Amino acid sequence: MDNRDASPGPDREGRETWHRAQELLARMTPAEKAGQLTQLFYFPQTAAKGEAAVRSGEAGALLFVADPAETNRLQRIAVEETRLGIPLLFGFDVIHGFRTIFPVPLAMAASWDPDIIKRAQSIAAKEARAVGIHWAFAPMVDIARDPRWGRMIEGAGEDPFLGSAVAAAHVRGFQGDDPADADRVISGPKHFAGYGAAMGGRDYDEANISDSELWNVYLPPFEAAVKAGCGNIMAAYMDLNGIPATGNRWLLSEVLRNTWDFQGFVVSDANSVRDLETHGFARNQEDAATRALWAGIDMEMVFMDPAYTTLPQSLGDGQISEGVLDTSVLRILETKINMGLFENPYVDESRSTEVLEASPHREVAREAAERSMVLLRNEGNVLPLDDAQLASIALIGPFADDPREIIGPWSFDFRNDETVTILDGIRHRAGNGIDVRYAPGIRRAHRVFPSMFDAFPGQEPDRQPDFDDDGEFRKAIDLATSSDVAVVVLGEWQNMIGEDASRASMTLPGRQTELLQAVVETGTPVVLLLMNGRPLDITWANDRVPAILDIWYPGSQGGHAVANILFGDVAPGGKLPFTWPRSMNQVPLISSHTRSHQPEKQGERYWDEPSTPLFPFGYGLSYSPFAYRNIRITPDTIHSGTTATVSVEVTNTGARTADDVAQMYIHQRFGSASRPIRELKGFQRVTLEAGERRTVTFTLGPDQLRYWNAAVRDWVIDEAEFDLWIGSDSTASLQTTFSTAR
Ligand code: NOJ
Repeated sequence: MDNRDASPGPDREGRETWHRAQELLARMTPAEKAGQLTQLFYFPQTAAKGEAAVRSGEAGALLFVADPAETNRLQRIAVEETRLGIPLLFGFDVIHGFRTIFPVPLAMAASWDPDIIKRAQSIAAKEARAVGIHWAFAPMVDIARDPRWGRMIEGAGEDPFLGSAVAAAHVRGFQGDDPADADRVISGPKHFAGYGAAMGGRDYDEANISDSELWNVYLPPFEAAVKAGCGNIMAAYMDLNGIPATGNRWLLSEVLRNTWDFQGFVVSDANSVRDLETHGFARNQEDAATRALWAGIDMEMVFMDPAYTTLPQSLGDGQISEGVLDTSVLRILETKINMGLFENPYVDESRSTEVLEASPHREVAREAAERSMVLLRNEGNVLPLDDAQLASIALIGPFADDPREIIGPWSFDFRNDETVTILDGIRHRAGNGIDVRYAPGIRRAHRVFPSMFDAFPGQEPDRQPDFDDDGEFRKAIDLATSSDVAVVVLGEWQNMIGEDASRASMTLPGRQTELLQAVVETGTPVVLLLMNGRPLDITWANDRVPAILDIWYPGSQGGHAVANILFGDVAPGGKLPFTWPRSMNQVPLISSHTRSHQPEKQGERYWDEPSTPLFPFGYGLSYSPFAYRNIRITPDTIHSGTTATVSVEVTNTGARTADDVAQMYIHQRFGSASRPIRELKGFQRVTLEAGERRTVTFTLGPDQLRYWNAAVRDWVIDEAEFDLWIGSDSTASLQTTFSTAR
């Protein structure tokens, strides 16, 4: 049934680690091999089974152990009590920080700043490694174009170019030059591939993606992550074009190994090997295991009862060859050897507290939060607030003083007492001269069904049984009436978004709109802060509220970051990594669609609602306007295999130091396929002082000009003419042209 074998391949033969792994492999029984290919959850309800499996050599990796004493205890069992003493690999969902929590991934992408992403993830890696974790199940690099899908928050949004740059930055942040470094972890981009295209935005449902979209949109961030050297890839849950991703040999072997030369190991998603039977793909668990392994799943991640325990039997029955099994085992052994785990299996427990409490980590979290925030509206320059003119601020909304909410989903090891809420941050910055008063106004809302994370300590939602709805509402309105400015914090509660948290509407949950409307009615100037990980319905606010700042879920230091931006100590400069629809009825809505019949009616494709977005991709304001001039491309004909340099002058024409992201878009006017009206092909975030001018340059070459042509099923660069724009968002008007030639 197979043709994979354990031969090293030309580039592996020379590796010392490969020979070491081979020697170890030669001493292993089939059951020990299957054990190395098994990763078990270490949840309270599975811990006893997990520990027994480690002792009997039936598990080579665990996930969700985050206590250094516990990682060492379990590691000691593996090293000292098993026949071969092979150390365990510990994995964990280190998504946007470990102890120091950074903004959620979608927010980090909104920074358009690969450097801050790299710095944040290098800190996450250091903290995770300090408790014994070797491997982060991150970044999620799934392109997401449907905000109903709750996991949009975990990725970089809709665009493959931005998504690729962000993916590479995450991987480099986690791994540095060498994941074996004591402060680094292996990065495992996920979920390979197409998970973000779940039908109807319903998590885990099938994805049907055209050939052109798959290669041009969904695969590029994975390829970028592989190029950045990621040590692991996680497969996806759903069917991709009719084949479960976890059993998809074309994806996992043809594309990932043969085309991209991926050298690390592939892990399934939790229980996704077992699921091959659920999908109606595998006949039974034995069949699921052999077909997943054959497809290219080196390691099975599973809650309990691994399908891979059947592999020795299947080997005996001739259902798989030793070569297939050994290839995967070698990848795991090599990873452990490369990580230095045979020499240093244990973590230094005495060092972990110091690493987890390092204050420079919190500084980077603050900076990342500041850089991720997107100013959506600022009529009459309500922001920044002028502290000399203000005597009082009404801070309103249930999110404003809730440490759990500001942290966002996929965080487990944060501390409430280290988290700066918005109330904390504003009070700290405002000092004694301004009276900062707080009222929640409404009770917290929650998903109506429980989340799988509710059982974790500190995650159980507080239902607030004693909350006086009418009294609290009135108090908030009175506070707004008697204050100089009202800062209202609204959004989605963090357990309403993330895995298994898709939603059919984008309204503000609970009584939030009512609260906002009542505050606006008071006539006090209003600043709306949004906490979200996908677009929400803010069309009413966009007409009536002068200032709107998207703060996402900004993490441990979110309160300080918010205060610094509100008072103008820092200018916002984040940009939307997705197109913001007016309502969920427009979904999916993207900025890089192709041009078609009656393009002048592009904004009127529905007769009952505009088909234009509320905000375009790449949109975001700052505290100064920017002007773009003198766009140049040299040469203006790009011959095959060569590159051109594009330059533009960016000027801060306002009175304050501020940030902008210069964005370069192209459009191919004709060719062997239709190409999108605009595609992002370069970006650079700049900070300019008032009046300062800077020339920003980009390179344009084969990597940006090629695209996957579904007719010939290959990459092509057409001889064609192109438009090129540079500016502050995807509607940039400063334009030039160029052409390509042989
Ligand atoms: C399932 C999720 O899909 C994946 O992203 C995560 O890493 C694993 N569970 C482990 O928690």
